[in-house]
Amino acid sequence: MSLTDSQDVLARVEREKEGYLEELKDYLRIPSISTDPAYRDEVLRCGAFLRDKMLQAGLEAELIETDGHPLVYGEWLGAPGKPTILFYGHYDVQPADPLELWRHDPFEPVVEGDELVARGATDDKGQSYAHLKAVAAVLAERGKLPVNVKFIVEGEEESGGEALESFVRQDAGRKLACDCVVISDSAMYAPGQPSLLYGLKGMTYVELKVTGPDRDLHSGSYGGAVANPGNVLAYLIARLRDAETGKVLIPGFYDKVRPLADWEREEFARLPFDEEAYRRSIGVPELFGEEGYTTLERAWARPTCDVNGIFGGYMKEGAKTIIPSWCGAKVSMRLVPDQDPHEIARLFEDYVRSIQPKGVTLEVISHHGAEPVLIETEGPLVEAAMAAMADVWKKPVRVREGGTIPIVSTFSKVLGVPILLLGFGLADDRLHSPNEKFNVSNFYGGIRAIVRLLDRAGAIA
Ligand code: BES
Ligand code: ZN
Repeated sequence: MSLTDSQDVLARVEREKEGYLEELKDYLRIPSISTDPAYRDEVLRCGAFLRDKMLQAGLEAELIETDGHPLVYGEWLGAPGKPTILFYGHYDVQPADPLELWRHDPFEPVVEGDELVARGATDDKGQSYAHLKAVAAVLAERGKLPVNVKFIVEGEEESGGEALESFVRQDAGRKLACDCVVISDSAMYAPGQPSLLYGLKGMTYVELKVTGPDRDLHSGSYGGAVANPGNVLAYLIARLRDAETGKVLIPGFYDKVRPLADWEREEFARLPFDEEAYRRSIGVPELFGEEGYTTLERAWARPTCDVNGIFGGYMKEGAKTIIPSWCGAKVSMRLVPDQDPHEIARLFEDYVRSIQPKGVTLEVISHHGAEPVLIETEGPLVEAAMAAMADVWKKPVRVREGGTIPIVSTFSKVLGVPILLLGFGLADDRLHSPNEKFNVSNFYGGIRAIVRLLDRAGAIA
């Protein structure tokens, strides 16, 4: 299989790429924030937009109703006997707050040099739209595809992904039956250096609420006579993690953690990694993490317990003298195989209740969870994907990630096929942050890589 085999389509992509970028901008203009009920109609509008683009590309496509946000499904199955590739992505985005830190309106995409800046640019509209444009370009050029394709794009990945989860389980893989899943919702290892991602963390997300008096009290009149919910919350949070060793202190937390394999530690250590540049890129005075592990090992393969927000009491300008009635915190625990998200939620609750000081009530609320996953990376389609990435950039390196894509473990269990996590993003894309961006050259590179993957997969004997 040589590069010239795709030259017809690659030339079309080159001619039409600005048009693809304009379409992506239209897609990004729809504020499909799945976590906020106020945006329900926009999420729906976004799903319909994507379905229409699939229809225009020549796929059969539909919106699938769910209890939550709709799924967008598309297919082209005109290559009997050839492999079937299932492309997964998500059309929902995280909220854009804090708005004042954006250089522009987060839903009015702006191209600055090579960077397309907008909420969802890389996570995941831009990356997954590259799949669709590659398929559309092949169909436009040749009227047919070298393989069968299916698309499943969900509208609630950022809010837990229950709809797709139950769809996959009920469908038991019939509608979604395939030979491999392709997902682009992660990053390359470095500019020009693609990666084959084989591990994602899971998640347990909890909220703590500490309640004391039935109203805010005068901190002089009552201070000292009642437990303060803010102090109690801080006491609990301070006991989640050892400040010296970085170890999580919840009893049993590490019991099921699968240790890093020797080959992984060796491979990670061989990757070019500049600690100092990494430190500077995030603006911290010093890196900190679990004793006994390198930065990459901590971020990719060791479980964490982190406060995501603390609130309650007087938070505005100046000093108001109160004992707050209540205080709360949101805490996420990123998990690695073989930790179980439900079990970890239980261990967390048992632990905080066991150390809870007197004089307050404590609520522990569980939000979404996701299972950690490690993926087998062998077989002809994996080889085809690696080669397709090398056609555009260079040979991918094997990496793990600290992020979570909840559906991956379900795909892996229910569909039982290889899952190819081919990220087109970059480490500095600012996902979930202000001024999220996607490099336009990576959007085009992603389209070319998928064109090559289609041709390479079609050539498998
Ligand atoms: N695209 C990310 C996951 C990701 C981030 C993978 C970085 C690889 C590198 C995904 O959209 C995401 O943000 N997922 C959430 C899931 C959560 C809400 C259950 C996450 O990881 O916080
Ligand atoms: Zn994403």
